[in-house]
Amino acid sequence: MKRAVYPGSFDPVTKGHLDIIERAATIVDELVVGVLNNNVKTPLFSVEERVNMLIDVTRHIPNVRVEAFSGLSVEFVKKCNASFIVRGLRAVTDFEYELQMAQTNRSIDREVDTLFLTTALNYAYISSTIVKEVASYGGDISGFVPPSVVEQVYHKIEQKKQ
Ligand code: PNS
Repeated sequence: MKRAVYPGSFDPVTKGHLDIIERAATIVDELVVGVLNNNVKTPLFSVEERVNMLIDVTRHIPNVRVEAFSGLSVEFVKKCNASFIVRGLRAVTDFEYELQMAQTNRSIDREVDTLFLTTALNYAYISSTIVKEVASYGGDISGFVPPSVVEQVYHKIEQKKQ
């Protein structure tokens, strides 16, 4: 059984993330999407909301499950009995940070390797940060996030403004 973990903040999940999930799911037997419950960053969505959004948008992929985790990614990988971390590379600007993370993770646990998938070109410029920025000015984010996520982003941003 080849199992991989795709860890991230997913605040919120974008079409770029979903593209990576769909493609990684064809490579491994089971893909666990790990949603970081991060105490340092202040996310727009709670970890439960992020997990629920991901469950919703991955419902059509039978070998994907979604779980929240805290602590080190490699420890979550071990807990899942997985052997790979999946990450998407959008552009060369991602490379330095991703290389550093992959090397750090491998130095913590030599049995955990990172598998990089290049993000589809049409999603290469999309990030959760850009989605929140555009939405905060009332811009159209329907090209950036799955349909079920669009209204949740506007709603949450409005809530936070009050
Ligand atoms: O979606 P993101 O924010 O780019 O994901 C970053 C993530 C969650 C993969 C990374 O911050 C992470 O693995 N955090 C958990 C703590 C950890 O394992 N750190 C060591 C790797 S540098």
